[in-house]
Amino acid sequence: MKDLSPAERQYYLQHIIAPRPICFASTVDKEGNVNLSPFSFFNLFSSNPPIVVFSPGRKIRYNTTKHSLQNVLEIPEVVINIVTYDMVQQTSLASCEYPKEVDEFIKAGFTKEKATLVQPPMVKESKAKLECKVIEIKELGKEGGAGNLVICEVLLMHIDDSLLDENKNFDQTKLGLVARLGGDWYCRVGPDNLFKVKKPSIQLGIGIDALPEGIRHSMFLTGNHLGQLANVEAIPLVEPSFDDEHLRNIFQYYSINPEEMEKEVHLYAAKLLDAGKVHEAWQVLLASENII
Ligand SMILES: Cc1cc2nc3c(=O)[nH]c(=O)nc-3n(C[C@H](O)[C@H](O)[C@H](O)COP(=O)(O)O)c2cc1C
Repeated sequence: MKDLSPAERQYYLQHIIAPRPICFASTVDKEGNVNLSPFSFFNLFSSNPPIVVFSPGRKIRYNTTKHSLQNVLEIPEVVINIVTYDMVQQTSLASCEYPKEVDEFIKAGFTKEKATLVQPPMVKESKAKLECKVIEIKELGKEGGAGNLVICEVLLMHIDDSLLDENKNFDQTKLGLVARLGGDWYCRVGPDNLFKVKKPSIQLGIGIDALPEGIRHSMFLTGNHLGQLANVEAIPLVEPSFDDEHLRNIFQYYSINPEEMEKEVHLYAAKLLDAGKVHEAWQVLLASENII
């Protein structure tokens, strides 16, 4: 890191520590001037107490501090508005270096909504917002590029009804989050690129090292496939009742060529795993182990 300039460090780190969620922070100073700025050095660090942290850095070029930081040092309150795709261009506009007295709500065209417990206004257009008390500010350095951790306790959370079902379950596909990567890159979270990874069972997964050799060293199963297979609590037993037409066809067609049969079976298991059918994939692999 010593061989890189602060700008270069930031450049590479921002490309690889990504995507980062965006905190759109609304703050006020002692005179009541409002500031609204996005920060992607931001995340959730604790849920009890509920703590989120964002980091307005010292400007690399001029080594000055950001208005948002100056404001929370005066009035230790912030509303963190979550940024969705519908808001992203206006949010970016709000990051322009307007003079301190300029209200970015007006410049970027967002609507103010009164918060319940804190002074800074909320962004009406945001579907999720957090009213926070700033409990600590930790300066990380004195030079350009140094961050300042603004440690916030969430006092009140607003979640738009459209994101919840009748049982108050959150629908992740509906929020339309965006996140920041390196340079000008952003990504958009939507049904097309969301996927699930089953949480490891409370019982311990057997681990890749406990998979049968033939599966572990398969030429056709990837690390993701092995990760799925190794997340079971014990190697499943062969179910005599398991009957799969495609597998039967493979056995019949490749009966005189065990190598090809193994390839076809593993490719079929891979397909089942890609569809989340771990149980079936295991049965296919176990049935073939007995045959090949
Ligand atoms: C999406 C996005 C994320 C940003 N993240 C950060 C960040 O984490 N830290 C930072 O210091 N500046 C960040 N910036 C730049 C600030 O938003 C910008 O400097 C802003 O104008 C600061 O405003 P202020 O001086 O009014 O507080 C980001 C800009 C954008 C568009």
